Amino acid sequence: MKNKIDTGKISRNALCPCGSGKKYKRCCLNPPASTQPSNLQYAKKHKIRIKTPEQIEGIRRAGRLVMDTLELVAPHIRSGMTTDEINTMVHDFTIQHGAIPAPLNYRGFPKSVCVSINEVICHGIPGNRSFKDGDIVNVDVTSILNSYYADASKTFLVGNPGADALKIVNVCQQCLSEGMAVVKPGNTVGDIGYAIQSYAESQGCSVVREFVGHGVGIDFHEAPQIPHYGRSGSGVRLVPGMVFTIEPMINLGKKELVILDDGWTAVTKDGSLSAQFEQTLLVTETGVESLTSYSLKP
Ligand code: MF3
Ligand code: CO
Ligand code: CO
Repeated sequence: MKNKIDTGKISRNALCPCGSGKKYKRCCLNPPASTQPSNLQYAKKHKIRIKTPEQIEGIRRAGRLVMDTLELVAPHIRSGMTTDEINTMVHDFTIQHGAIPAPLNYRGFPKSVCVSINEVICHGIPGNRSFKDGDIVNVDVTSILNSYYADASKTFLVGNPGADALKIVNVCQQCLSEGMAVVKPGNTVGDIGYAIQSYAESQGCSVVREFVGHGVGIDFHEAPQIPHYGRSGSGVRLVPGMVFTIEPMINLGKKELVILDDGWTAVTKDGSLSAQFEQTLLVTETGVESLTSYSLKP
């Protein structure tokens, strides 16, 4: 028993006997759940990476660039602007900041950002389509900075939106908020989907099934998948250090979609409006921290 550290007599504020140089209470007295072997094993079984503090800082930096990019384009989502002009702005800004636009050449995607108007659910390819008064426009930015990925999107309103546009954008924003509210250790991926689906359907809207949130950070798309529908208590348990997106795609009409001949553009089958909001989220010891934080108004 010679080497066993007797923790009984150490004061909480004393230096930790492990030699870390930190206070005992900030170190071995309360080891972070993200370093507990049982949690690391659980994540590994599900092929989920628990991010280290260094990796989290890298993703946070990439996240700041993504948010700066969304702020840069926001005032340009105006009537007459084309989706290609948004692409050029995102591309140039990303490169100027020493980063890489992740969509470019990703599985053959030809542009640097996804821009999805009205009935386009996601993966809109920038081109010569221009914005019209009353449109809703999702801009989805993913940047790779120092090898770390962050992914976020917002749906903007062009000019004077009608009642339908306002409704789907507000419902979708609230869906992301409802999903984030249940992100904490011990809750499950199913709790997130349930929270989002319940709210969307209570408002008479529908949840797209074919695209889901995803682990992110070291790669563009990692485990786990985060469906925006589901049963509470089902699926993988959330563990501190997990980083994933929640990115609900919510339709004003029915949930079904069609993929256009370009192989990417997903549109609502019934032609109804579709909105999306996405943030990159860290599961903390007590809840959630957004690494691409923007306000989701009530
Ligand atoms: N940013 C999208 C997501 O949220 C993925 C776009 S893939 C692309 O997961 F190739 F279309 F860019
Ligand atoms: Co994403
Ligand atoms: Co995205």
